[in-house]
Parts: sequence; structure tokens; C-alpha cells
Amino acid sequence: MNRAEIIHWLRTSDEAALESLWREADAVRRREVGDAVHLRGLVEVSNQCVRQCAYCGIRAGNRTISRYTLRLEEILASVALAQQFGYGSVVLQAGETSQGLPTEWVAEVIREIRRRAPEMAITLSLGERGEKAFETWRLAGADRYLLRMESSNPTLFRKLHPQHPGWEFRLAALKQLQEIGYEVGSGVMIGVPGETWDDLAADIEMFRTLELDMVGVGPFLPHPQTPMGVEKPTFNDELTTLKTIALTRLLCPRVNIPSTTALAAIDRESGHERGLSRGANVIMPNVTPPQYRQLYEIYPSKANTLEAAETFDRKLQERIRAMGRSVGVGRGNSRRKYK
Ligand code: 5AD
Repeated sequence: MNRAEIIHWLRTSDEAALESLWREADAVRRREVGDAVHLRGLVEVSNQCVRQCAYCGIRAGNRTISRYTLRLEEILASVALAQQFGYGSVVLQAGETSQGLPTEWVAEVIREIRRRAPEMAITLSLGERGEKAFETWRLAGADRYLLRMESSNPTLFRKLHPQHPGWEFRLAALKQLQEIGYEVGSGVMIGVPGETWDDLAADIEMFRTLELDMVGVGPFLPHPQTPMGVEKPTFNDELTTLKTIALTRLLCPRVNIPSTTALAAIDRESGHERGLSRGANVIMPNVTPPQYRQLYEIYPSKANTLEAAETFDRKLQERIRAMGRSVGVGRGNSRRKYK
């Protein structure tokens, strides 16, 4: 599929054609990665951040939120929950901060999780912390790293990330992570102010070029306490998000694709299910201690933000089975094979 064909799909509202796209994406998903839905427990370790990303609610410039970093015991309790629910991986996510999360401290956390949950994959989502930190954490036992590109268009990237050295540095960080031996996930927000159909099509092509193990996409959700929160979004809707998931599945058949919280935030009723039936095969339930969740507002009213992990997990596993899918067993490693 070339750029023009991707753009054609992104723009179409022909329902019969879309039915064939959904069917094809679902068939490729079933054939290439199977019916299992892999669950990864998300731990929002810290909302401290030195970056000024123009879209993100926990950007350094937002002085209206109080900042926290979980203590080691709180992280371990969250991991224990994920382990108890049988999740194959735990994702440690935070704003970007070397002061708040010193490299050595994170390494110690990783080693402790490894000791207690040897069967789980450890996934990090801690921003661009540099090659040295990436290596230290890999040696400590981390397996995967999530770092979204946010856009494949360097000009748009600059607008999204004031004070950032630039798109090439994000690309270089992704390469470093791959060379160090992580399974690497990336992705973009959909429908940011100023984005074009050509930009989004190029994003989808880039997922393939980068040979990613995981691709996470979700709609841009304006956050009022950010510079971009007052601009007009473009196509940050559910249909465009679902098309992006389906097209990603067709271009990267074996990649792991989450049905994201941002998608569920714009369709609380069935966002997760719709993503899963149009190409996605992963969900990342939040296992952060509830009292911290409102403070990790990267976008407003994250879905299920305050629901207890136990309740969410029970309902989720039921919903997965009701769809005729199974709950993943084991780590759910990347099966990617490009070319
Ligand atoms: N809307 C949607 N997604 C957002 N993210 C950050 N801010 C927003 C927002 N306002 C996404 C980014 C980031 C991920 C952790 O959350 O893509 O990489």
C-alpha cells in the first residue's frame, strides 16, 4: 500500500469499503498474532517532568498540578497487582526527569521487580534519558521501551515540542534503544492542530520503516492547561483512530498494537473493544495507586481513571471473552518479522 492509498483510506467515509478494511485488519490480526489480548499493567511512576511538550498536561510549565514520585514500595505494590491479575508485562511510565528519577534508582527498581516477578516483561516509558541510562536499565533487566515519535513530520514535531533539540534526536533515541536490544514501541497522537492527512499517512509508513515491535496511537485530546489545548484539533476522532489502527495492522502485520486509553476516553462505552476488533491485540490497564491517578493527567478525564484496578480487570477480562477472544498468557513478546 502506498502513500496515496493510505490517504484514500484515511479520507473515505464509504461504509461498505470501511467494512472491508475492518474485516481485512481483523483477519490479518488473527492470522499473524492470534486471538490473545495481552494485558500490560501501567504504573504511572512520576508526573515530574522537565519537558515543555505543548500538548501534555504534565509539562514542566503546568504549575497548577502538584508533583509526585511513587516510593519503591508503592511501585512494587502496583507490580504485585499486575502479577496477581496475570499480566504479562508491567510498564513503568513517567515524565522525563533525571532529578526525580535518577538512573541508578530506576535500575534498582528494575532489579527488584526482576527478583519478585521473574516471569514478567519489564517495559519502560521514561522519555529520552540518553544512551547511558538506556544501557544501564537494559543491563538491570528491562526488556522493552516505549517512546512515541508523536509525528513523523519534523516541522510538526518542533511545534509539538518547543525547546526540544529536534526530531532527529527522537529518531536517534529510537535507534539506540533498538541497538541496545530492547523491544521498541513508538507511535503518534492523531489529529493534533496543524496535522494533515499526508502527515498521518507518513506516520503509518514510518511505523513500517522503523521496524517497530509495538505501535501505540490515540486521538489528541486538548488539555486546557497547555498551549495546544486552546487550538483547534484536526481529525482527533474515533473513526480516524480506528482507521489508523487497521492500516497499521495491514502494514506491520505482526506488530503489537494497544487499544489505547485515549481511544477509550472518547468512547467509554466500547472504545477498547472497537480497537481490538479493528487490528489491536493489547490493552494496558492502569495499576497505579488510585490516589495518584488524577495527578497524572496528560490529557483531561482519562477513562476509568478512578476505577479500582480489580474492578477494571474483572470487567475487562469478561469483555475480552465476550468478544470471542482470549486473555493472553505469558509475556506476549513481539513476533515482528519485517521483510
Ligand atoms: N492527548 C492525547 N495524548 C496525549 N499524550 C500526551 N498528551 C496527550 C494529549 N493531550 C500521549 C503522548 C505520549 C503518551 C504517553 O501520551 O503521545 O507519548
